[in-house]
Amino acid sequence: MKPSKNNTYDRRSFMRSALFGTGALLTLPSLLTLSSCTAATSKKAVPDPNFNADIEIDLKASPDKVQILQGSPTKIWRYSAQVKKGPAGAVQNLSNTFTGPVFRFKKGQKVRINFRNELSEESIVHWHGLHIPEIDDGHPRFVIDKGETFVYEFEIVNRAGTYWFHPHPHGRTGPQVYNGLAGLFIITDDEEQSLDLPAGEYDIPVVIQDRTFDRNNQLVYLQNRMQRMTGFLGETITVNGKPNASLNLKAGTYRLRVLNGSNSRIYKIAFNDSSPLTAIATDGGLLASPVQKRYIILGPAERVDLWVDLSTRKPGDRITLKSLSFEGGAMGGMGGGGMMGGGMMGGRSGSSNVPGNGDELTLLSINIKDGKGIKRSLPEKLSVLNLLTAGDAINQNDPRTFRFTMQGMNPVINGRSFKMTEVADDETVRLNTTEIWRLKNDNGSGMMGGMMQMPHPVHIHGLSFHIVNRTRGKGWETIKDGFIDNGWKDTALLFPGMTADVVMRFEDYPGLFLYHCHNLEHEDLGMMRNYLVKG
Ligand code: C2O
Ligand code: CU
Ligand code: CU
Repeated sequence: MKPSKNNTYDRRSFMRSALFGTGALLTLPSLLTLSSCTAATSKKAVPDPNFNADIEIDLKASPDKVQILQGSPTKIWRYSAQVKKGPAGAVQNLSNTFTGPVFRFKKGQKVRINFRNELSEESIVHWHGLHIPEIDDGHPRFVIDKGETFVYEFEIVNRAGTYWFHPHPHGRTGPQVYNGLAGLFIITDDEEQSLDLPAGEYDIPVVIQDRTFDRNNQLVYLQNRMQRMTGFLGETITVNGKPNASLNLKAGTYRLRVLNGSNSRIYKIAFNDSSPLTAIATDGGLLASPVQKRYIILGPAERVDLWVDLSTRKPGDRITLKSLSFEGGAMGGMGGGGMMGGGMMGGRSGSSNVPGNGDELTLLSINIKDGKGIKRSLPEKLSVLNLLTAGDAINQNDPRTFRFTMQGMNPVINGRSFKMTEVADDETVRLNTTEIWRLKNDNGSGMMGGMMQMPHPVHIHGLSFHIVNRTRGKGWETIKDGFIDNGWKDTALLFPGMTADVVMRFEDYPGLFLYHCHNLEHEDLGMMRNYLVKG
């Protein structure tokens, strides 16, 4: 490990942003004097009269109960939203579930979201995948208490795609998402509209999450330190918050927006009848053209939009979306069912029925019902991507390297853990530059280093990147055909030993953003760091 100087996000730029109302972090003792700065606190809590919102939404996080299983209702935490201004269709609250809501916006719209925290602990909302100013990114330094409101105001500049949102308080993201706080943030644009893709009832969210319910139907989170280190794995697969999920669809053409919203489980999705999957979009929106795959690997936070043509199916037909078995998902290097897969090291708690990370699973059944649906034909060309390449990077021959490792029981990045506003020299980049970063899932230190290796889905805030190179990793033969790297991404799943080179551009928004492992238990344990875009 090369030692490098750490500087706390420098106070002058902090003051500057505070005075312009873009930095209301009052957590550092040395900065407490800033609490008298009304500009900073007012920006967070009240709307800016000069921001002309096309859409305004009230969003709250609060405890609730829903009927998920037979018997007692399940206590959950949920987001619920209401349109205050703009088209009612911008928000869809899903019923009888903890998942949702689904937001639908168009590129170019100005959005105000008033987030009210009604939980009994701090929270903040992060818009995963969105390119937005620092103040709106939901950094944990912006957490608000119970009863407080945070006002987000930003213009949507992202490409059409399936983005999402979830809490981001430091150390509590895992449990808050687990309890139900996550929703979709769908964006469309003119380019996508011109394609006439399946819409309305033919455009369906598929949020995959694993949960464990106790005898009284209540959610059970981590039970021991080992589970925390490997990441939470649940007994039951839910889709849009429902176990044994099924969709009753017409014989038509559908777009399924699949989000892996699980804390740490990885899926290798495929149809049970071995018909291929057709992907039309990844994390950062539409692909250049459709891609056919026998299976697709989806790590936590990753998305893929599937084109599912059921038009030749008959009423009563049924196909199942499954997760096929794969290796390299569990600690100990033996895959889900290997030597250690059956024990603690596979993320199972020994006595329970928790499938290992890499065991075969059923995710969703699709039943064809009576009546013809709308059939569409798959466009040959979907989008103009303008992907960045390694040659665009100012450090093409000298990528910044970030090693994701286990240091003893702690997951770290280049040997460091998260500190709220700390950023190192090698985490500082310049506005209006393009860089290549080498993300490496590496051996940890010590005797157990190699044994402790497990997958890390690496996510970078505030932008989309292009994965220009990926090396093999543990389990390769069982996963190699499952990656879609020729689109825009914001999360790169790294199996043990795997390296991904990603190219991205830092533009529009200076400030402090996060990059981290999206295994939420790893994130909460500190496998997260700031990077600073210097203006
Ligand atoms: Cu989806 Cu920093 O997270
Ligand atoms: Cu994010
Ligand atoms: Cu990780």
